[in-house]
Order: sequence, then structure tokens, then C-alpha cells
Amino acid sequence: MAQLWGGRFTKETDQMVYEFNASILFDKRLYKQDIKGSMAHVKMLAKVGILTEKECDEILNGLVGILQDVEQGNLKITAEYEDIHSFVEANLIERIGETGKKLHTGRSRNDQVALDMRLYIRDELKRTDGLLLELLKVLARIMEENLDTLMPGFTHLQKAQPVTLAHHVGAYFEMFKRDRLRLEDICRRMNYCPLGAGALAGTTYPLDREYTAELLGFYGPTKNSMDSVSDRDYVIEYLSALCTVMMHLSRFSEEIIIWNSNEYRFVELDDAYSTGSSIMPQKKNPDIAELVRGKTGRVYGALMGLLTTMKGLPLAYNKDMQEDKEGVFDAIDTVTTCITLFTGMVDTMKFNRQVMEDSAKNGFTNATDVADYLVNRGVPFRDAHGISGRLVLKCIAQDKALDDLSLAEFQEESAVFEADIYEAISMKTCVEKRLTLGAPGETVMRQVLEENRTYLEEAEENA
Ligand code: ARG
Repeated sequence: MAQLWGGRFTKETDQMVYEFNASILFDKRLYKQDIKGSMAHVKMLAKVGILTEKECDEILNGLVGILQDVEQGNLKITAEYEDIHSFVEANLIERIGETGKKLHTGRSRNDQVALDMRLYIRDELKRTDGLLLELLKVLARIMEENLDTLMPGFTHLQKAQPVTLAHHVGAYFEMFKRDRLRLEDICRRMNYCPLGAGALAGTTYPLDREYTAELLGFYGPTKNSMDSVSDRDYVIEYLSALCTVMMHLSRFSEEIIIWNSNEYRFVELDDAYSTGSSIMPQKKNPDIAELVRGKTGRVYGALMGLLTTMKGLPLAYNKDMQEDKEGVFDAIDTVTTCITLFTGMVDTMKFNRQVMEDSAKNGFTNATDVADYLVNRGVPFRDAHGISGRLVLKCIAQDKALDDLSLAEFQEESAVFEADIYEAISMKTCVEKRLTLGAPGETVMRQVLEENRTYLEEAEENA
């Protein structure tokens, strides 16, 4: 047992208590942030004269050595330490001797862990953002290639009106774009440095908090020391953003599962991204999409878990807050893998264009266009809706599409129909005429694609 706080105790900690209390097995992933934070702290201590330059250099060299040894696998982070902070400090003292004992001057593990988590989440926000950008690039490519791939658009999972694949995928492009904005927005609120808050009430040392904040790339120091050590809003916000990402991935996965079904056959998944059955030789299952959909639940669980952990905590730090870590770490790992695999799956997926187009034709998706045709020739919309509905009924009875009715059959319902009805309700016309901004018509979709291109170029430059 290596603890930082033996002084006021007369008995050893019970082994089970020690293990229950320790966080090293999961907070070891914060080693880089912990060392980076300590380096900034030490530089600041030297700047304000609490440490000499020599002491500062010694400590910095020691910390760099620990970082290198951990990264090269020469130093293992083991359960013999209580947490990552104890690990770094104990190793520093072992490495450089007495001077190492000065590292923790003007600091508490409470502001230290708050800093480590902020640094870690800030790094991860960027990583998630980068993965979303890769996904967006793939979606943009699919959109460019499928401006005129017709397919049915659905409401209530019933064929509704014809759209294009570019338009359908474009909906997800918007979702993941918003997800990126959410991540950026979180960074704006969380990017303040809690170091210097001490245990809860600041310190009596003349710390230069602005300097530490600057060294670590924060906008500045946090403004209230009690809030600094007890705020986990940014973890909750990040989890919430991850939940929304997963919700989007899950909806898309659900569609891919449907599109990949024997009944739909809109898409074919690449062999590398599908799995077989141990008993049914014919099977090619969309397990990746199903797992992405399934794993959404555990990411939601992490958010709900932390919200619940935090809800009854009095100010300031409470050990309950150590529970912020495992949930968010698991959520990050899950989302990282999910976005990566999902991107690969979508990138390699083949679209059965003809099947999609035939499906649009065979679902009365142009029934609204029949009504619109009549409206354009002076029939009130409500009457036109009724006429089109009766035509659909006629088609259902004869098991055919609206396009297959003869002109005479059209005219039985309304004398307004003329031979140009066929052109007016062809799938191609139905889509091309939808030219309001945001609709699937090719002219407006081209504008959107152009905007997407600019968006991706700028995102790439800022990455
Ligand atoms: N392992 C602790 C955590 O993750 C570090 C802070 C410990 N502070 C304390 N007063 N025991 O929250």
C-alpha cells in the first residue's frame, strides 16, 4: 500500500477498504495529464519563487523521466499505489529524492484530479471530433455519388414521397455536423483551469493561477475554488454529447439493418463488416450495426449514472466523485470504436440503386404529386387529395402503380387529367420539382453539396 496520507493514522488500512477506495486501476489512464499538470504547477511554483530554478529543473527532469518510462513500458502503473497522483509523486521521490517532496506544495489531489479530468476530456473532445469529421467525409462522398439515386422517403416506416439517397444521407450529415458543434461548445465552457483551488478554499501561497492556466492552454483560471473542485458539469456535458452521437449512429444503424434485410435489399454490407451464422450457412448478418445500436444503451447509462452520482453531493469535493471516471472512460472507448467501425461499414457498403428506385415506384410515393398536378390546374387541394386517394384505391385493387393507370382511368376520377400526367408523376419529376431549400431536388441539393464541401475544407484546416 502506497498512500500519501499516513501521518495521522495509527493503524494500517484494512486491505478490502484500501482496494475499495483506490482508483489506480482505472485512473492510470490519466498519467499523461497528471504529469503534464504537475509540470505546469512546478514551473509556476518556480516563477513565484516557492521553488528555486534548480529544484524546478530537477522535478521537471524527474517527471519527464517517469513519462518516458511509462510510455516505453519500463515503468508499470500497478495496484500498489492508491491513485495516479500517488503513483507519480511516489515515483518522483524515489527517482530524485528530497526535492520530489516539494511537488505537492500549494496543491491538493482535489484540484489535481479536477485538472487531470479536464485535460483528459479536452483531448478526447478533439479526438471524437476528428472521428466525426472522417465520418462526414464518407457521407459527403456518398451524397456526391447519389444525387439522382431515387428511393422512397418514409414516414411511419411507410413509403411516403420519393427522395434521393443523397438527400437521405444528407440528413445524417446535418446530425453529425451538429454533434461537432456541440463538442466545440462544451470546450468553450470547460476550458478553464481549476489548479490553485487547493482542497476547496484556495491556498495561502502566492500562486500565479493565470500563468498555470496559460501554460496548459486554458482560457484562464476558474473563478471559485469550491466550484473548481466539485464541478463535473463538463463530464456530464461530454457524456450527453456522446449520447447524442450514439443516438444518431443508432438510428442510422437501424436503417442500415432494415435496408440490408432480405425484404428491402437496398444495401449490401461488405464481407469485412458483416458476420455469419454458426448454423445457417446462407446468413450474412449486420452485427456491427446491431452492436452500435445496442451499445448506445451503455453510453446512456454512463450519463444517467454520473447525473445520479452528482445529484446529492454537498460542496465541495466528496469521494463519490471518483465515480465519474469508469463510466466516462467506458463511454469514450465505446463511442470511439463505434464511430470508427460505423464509418468503415458505411464507406464499404454497396447501394442497390435499381432496387431503391423500384421501391419508390411501387409505393404510391407520387400520390401527393397527382394531387399537386390537379391543384396546379385549379382543383382545390382537399378535393385533389380525395381524387388521388381514390386512384390509389383503384391501383391497390388492380395491384398496380399510379403510373400504370390508363388516361381513361385517371379521367374517370377527374376530367382535369391530360396525357402530361405521366410526365408529371414520374419519380424523376417528383424529385426534381422539389426545389425548396433543403429538399431533394437536384438544383438545391447541389447548393447543399457545395456548402458541405466548403464546410469540410474549413474543418480540415482547423483540425
Ligand atoms: N482518486 C480521487 C478521485 O478520483 C482523487 C482525489 C482524491 N481526493 C481526496 N480528497 N481523497 O476523485
